[in-house]
Amino acid sequence: MRPEVAENVYLPRIAVLDRVVDEIQDVKTFYWHFEDPADREAFKGFRPGQFVQVTLFGAGEMPLSLPPSPTEGETFFTVRRVGSCTEALHGLRPGDKFGVRGPYGNGFPMESFHGKNLVFVAGGIGLIPLRSCIVYALAHREKYRRIQIFLGARTPRDLMYRDKLREWERSAGVECYLTVDRADEGWAGNVGVVGSLFKKPGVEVPVEDTVAFVCGPPVMFRFVIRDLAGMGFSEESIISTLERYMKCGVGKCGHCCIGVAYVCVDGPVFSYRQISKLGEDI
Ligand SMILES: Cc1cc2nc3c(=O)[nH]c(=O)nc-3n(C[C@H](O)[C@H](O)[C@H](O)COP(=O)(O)OP(=O)(O)OC[C@H]3O[C@@H](n4cnc5c(N)ncnc54)[C@H](O)[C@@H]3O)c2cc1C
Ligand code: FES
Repeated sequence: MRPEVAENVYLPRIAVLDRVVDEIQDVKTFYWHFEDPADREAFKGFRPGQFVQVTLFGAGEMPLSLPPSPTEGETFFTVRRVGSCTEALHGLRPGDKFGVRGPYGNGFPMESFHGKNLVFVAGGIGLIPLRSCIVYALAHREKYRRIQIFLGARTPRDLMYRDKLREWERSAGVECYLTVDRADEGWAGNVGVVGSLFKKPGVEVPVEDTVAFVCGPPVMFRFVIRDLAGMGFSEESIISTLERYMKCGVGKCGHCCIGVAYVCVDGPVFSYRQISKLGEDI
């Protein structure tokens, strides 16, 4: 009898790129599928906020957020080009192959927020991880109360997922508020940081029974936390994702440790209370 061989968790499955869509400068969305239908089948049912480790052969491996599951059909990543791995991904053409292993991480506990108001606050590409929560919440609309989306970008050209934003704006029971730091001649909307939207006439953010999802660059995060705390949000009611350099993705190498937490297995989703306790300086 042959001895049983344990599955190698570091072995990526082969994925094939289908098409690439330009989002904003240096940010593209990559639609893909697993080459082996068995991998496709095994990969169903991940949670919003989970991630995968993506291998670009000859360049390296990196963590990327997964798309909504299964509500938007196709599997994709939206990725900003910042260094060697992201550059290699941006250089791929339809038909090219790369590796994917996962899904990993805890994801957003969307079921535990049933019956609550949801406030999404995103800055720039912070909308990438929040998109999956928004799509999930809309697919389970009856489980949640008010849904508000606040999105800030540097300029109108930096607003992410414009088609999706229009779709969400048209959805019943969804309030969508946009702002930019610098307007251009076509922009008639709000100008200012994302927190300035909370004080606009006609905007009323419920605090009782509300969860605030906040994702964006560190400076935006700090200001939004201050605004939300000033409005009465507790540290437990604010939730976010942490980004750390990762190697194994499965709690073995220690690369992603913050205090006692491994971002790859205990996160990447944490409440602001957990983030404060970890002593994390965002
Ligand atoms: C759980 C998780 C999910 C993620 N999901 C996404 C996603 O969906 N889309 C996405 O675009 N990115 C995402 N990231 C970030 C992504 O993993 C990094 O951008 C990527 O690893 C950079 O690899 P690289 O080899 O291209 O750059 P590197 O060569 O490693 O870095 C190049 C330069 O960019 C800087 N840098 C690295 N990461 C970032 C960053 N995130 N923002 C700004 N500067 C950076 C480095 O400090 C360095 O100066 C995620 C990270 C984590 C931990
Ligand atoms: S990436 Fe290795 S322990 Fe988290």
